[in-house]
Amino acid sequence: MKRITLFLSLALLAACAKPQPQAFQVIPMPADVTVSDGAFNVKGVAIAVDPALDKLSQKAVGRFVSALETATGVKTKSGEGGISFVLNPNLAAEQYAINVKADGAVVEASALNGFVYACETLKQMLPAAIYGSAKAKADWVLPYVSILDQPRFSYRGMHLDPCRHFWTIEETKRYLDVMTAYKLNRFHWHLTEDQGWRMEIKAYPRLTEVGAWRNGTVIKKDWGSNDGIRYGGFYTQDELREVVAYAAERGITVIPEVDLPGHMVAALTAYPELGCTGGPYEVWTRWGVAKDILCAGNDRIFTFLEGVLTEVMDIFPSEYIHIGGDECFSGDAEPGRPDPWDVCPKCAARMRSLGIKKGPEAKHLLQNYVTDRVQAFLNAHGRKIIGWDEVLEGNLSEGATVMSWRGVAGGIKAAEKGFDAIMTPTSYMYFDFYQSQERDKEPFGIGGHQPLENVYSYEPFDGLKPGTEDHILGVQANLWTEYIATPEHLEYMLLPRMCALSEIQWCAADKKDYERFNASLEHTFQMLDAMGLNYSLDCRGLIGLDRQPARTTEELEEYLAKKDWGW
Ligand code: ACM
Ligand code: ZN
Repeated sequence: MKRITLFLSLALLAACAKPQPQAFQVIPMPADVTVSDGAFNVKGVAIAVDPALDKLSQKAVGRFVSALETATGVKTKSGEGGISFVLNPNLAAEQYAINVKADGAVVEASALNGFVYACETLKQMLPAAIYGSAKAKADWVLPYVSILDQPRFSYRGMHLDPCRHFWTIEETKRYLDVMTAYKLNRFHWHLTEDQGWRMEIKAYPRLTEVGAWRNGTVIKKDWGSNDGIRYGGFYTQDELREVVAYAAERGITVIPEVDLPGHMVAALTAYPELGCTGGPYEVWTRWGVAKDILCAGNDRIFTFLEGVLTEVMDIFPSEYIHIGGDECFSGDAEPGRPDPWDVCPKCAARMRSLGIKKGPEAKHLLQNYVTDRVQAFLNAHGRKIIGWDEVLEGNLSEGATVMSWRGVAGGIKAAEKGFDAIMTPTSYMYFDFYQSQERDKEPFGIGGHQPLENVYSYEPFDGLKPGTEDHILGVQANLWTEYIATPEHLEYMLLPRMCALSEIQWCAADKKDYERFNASLEHTFQMLDAMGLNYSLDCRGLIGLDRQPARTTEELEEYLAKKDWGW
């Protein structure tokens, strides 16, 4: 026994004497990695930045260096022999290479995204405290490693709904920070809804004066209730631009959504003349799908939409603008009431003038007409549309991209018809679903069951007709917030499921491995702790918001004191 203790102590001493790299637990797992014995010390290391790097790439490297200095508590120096960031035009825009040997680390990329991802991989290979904001004692070494990495899909999205519940600019930036850590590159911002319009439009000020505020919110999950508390908020155009710029510096494109012609009750409340009945309307105070939508028979809606979209294009430089298109005729909140488009004389006249015959297809063809006119307007300004998969019903015009949410069928059908598609099926990619089956221990989800392993198991090419794979631009998860009112809850729903999403988006199908991924989560949990983010430990059998394992006692006490989460 004594001899074993002595042996263990010696082994421990030896280990302490030589700084040890942590296990290689990078998420998403890089495409090509060779780790060898040895480690390179980066405390106070020399940093060399190729002057050929563009401004934003230099800024990304600067953020890495500053995180390193904060976490190690030691300033870096400039010069060779430490970490060198080098422009390599032979690499693709999202590709990067890292080589760490005894004589230093060389990081190569050709553009901003490559440098951002290289820096995130460097950070994940270091102790998790690099994601924190304080000096930490740790082995500040990188493993000797050779990495050549690039993503599987060009569209790696995460969605956020600030309409059902509002998220501040700072909260939104934190969301972008965690997307950056896992190499996502598209932020789908769902900015308009029945329950609130969230974006300043100067030509239509009532959208935010009136449409951004609702007279109360459903209490817990009782759809018949209303807490009577005025609720809302919106982003000024300066704030929207600030988020666009913040995202762009991290290689993320913000794709704004103006959901039309449905999900428009907040806009109708502000401008009732745009609806079939003329109102009055009230910013929706309940969940579910409203029946009132824009009147397709009224040309004023196109003046309105073109005015709104002109400002949207000015704020958001993205190639794609999301125009929604979902749930125009599935209004479930007013049983017995006909769809306004079925009884509106103006919509009937429009159908007649378009030669649309009565029947089950009629409303879809009328929706097509609206989609088409908006698409033509955006195309004329050099933009493309994305629509939820309902836009496929009828005759969708060339050049549209379909976001497949009602399962995978929409994406498969779109690809077969020659449209590009983004896969975001409810069956895998709805992060407002519960993570465990023990719902009484979980914070609210909208319903369903979406455990981490199920998310991870998604293969975006399953079911596709061979030869149509190139139409799948990528994958996205959606986070709707009817039942999510606090950042802690939002983070709980997001993480670690977004980490699983990142491997679907980034890793080749044969590189995915749930066991390896699951083991790597240990490091991710430390990272998230260092970033001060909440996350679910359902995958470890610790269910619910209250488990909070890694908080300090003080933080835990503060957290518990304000724990009236409303469920
Ligand atoms: C959706 O979830 N209504 C796109
Ligand atoms: Zn109408």
